[in-house]
Amino acid sequence: FSSTIKSLSARRTVDEITGGRRLRRSRKAEWSRRLVRETHLTVDDLIWPLFLMEGENRQEPLEAMPGVMRHTVDHAVKQAERAAKLGIPAIATFPNIDPARKDETGSHSLDPDNLINRATRAIKDAVPEIGVITDVALDPFTSHGHDGILRDGEIVNDDTVALIAMAAVGQAAAGADIIAPSDMMDGRVGAIRDALDQNGFHNVAIMSYATKFASAFYGPYREAIGTGGLLKGDKKTYYIDPANSDEAIREAEQDLLEGADMLMVKPGLPYLDIARRLKDTFAVPTFAYQVSGEYAMIKAAGANGWIDGEKAMIESLLAFKRAGCDGILTYFAPEMAELL
Ligand code: PBG
Repeated sequence: FSSTIKSLSARRTVDEITGGRRLRRSRKAEWSRRLVRETHLTVDDLIWPLFLMEGENRQEPLEAMPGVMRHTVDHAVKQAERAAKLGIPAIATFPNIDPARKDETGSHSLDPDNLINRATRAIKDAVPEIGVITDVALDPFTSHGHDGILRDGEIVNDDTVALIAMAAVGQAAAGADIIAPSDMMDGRVGAIRDALDQNGFHNVAIMSYATKFASAFYGPYREAIGTGGLLKGDKKTYYIDPANSDEAIREAEQDLLEGADMLMVKPGLPYLDIARRLKDTFAVPTFAYQVSGEYAMIKAAGANGWIDGEKAMIESLLAFKRAGCDGILTYFAPEMAELL
């Protein structure tokens, strides 16, 4: 071994090989690593997704998402207060709708007093300084768990768009600051923009789940909002094929032309290439959703001692910043904010 080393170093020294450039120099101490650090994670980057449920003064743990709870509205208000104290700029709400209120078309999404709208009103009332982002898809409200109206085995696009646009107006009326359509129907961003403007909600923004992929990483979320057992088939006729990247660019371009203020990539870590492409191509506010399955993986491996869960959390969130994201929807938001 030592003679191999000798013969190697006899040929050329490291300085001859590198031309004297030593990239490790800047890594030698924490102060110099800090000095050259290119991206930073701050609490301003965090958006906290919150699960809602009916009832009073209760919260329920989620088996596949250790540390994450479903909250009744009064409890969600307390979480929003906590988020504001931690400096988290915005929360995103997702309702677990009573099965008795679900139907084929998701009509309860239009009810001004549905769970999501009641929560928005209560949160904006108690914590007006926090941004509230509402998901405007139909899946929490449909008996079949799809994000659109199901007719003869097909998710019908145009009728779904009309319904979603109306639901978005209801959410804005309840006080939502940002409407986030996650259904991937064609034309929904433009239709939502029109409907918001017609009803005087010019200042309500749209964060489009522009590039939402047909992913296996949404599993724990579907359990959390109670659609897991309901979903018939899959969502491949409306979400993007995980194999595609150019198509994601076309989706994002279309949504921006229709009036989206911000883009979102979903899931997160497996799709960082998409985040980087979107940021480089469009230079608009770009967010990533580190989804339930990603959270579950880090938590599970951490709980088993297979990885350092906290370090993996920090590294994963920083990776989004490096990929060009302006912020991250993440279930780690309160945990990360506490560390920061
Ligand atoms: C659906 C929706 C999904 C998520 C948020 N809104 C995915 C789905 O069920 O298809 C997933 C979020 C997560 O997994 O954390 N409108």
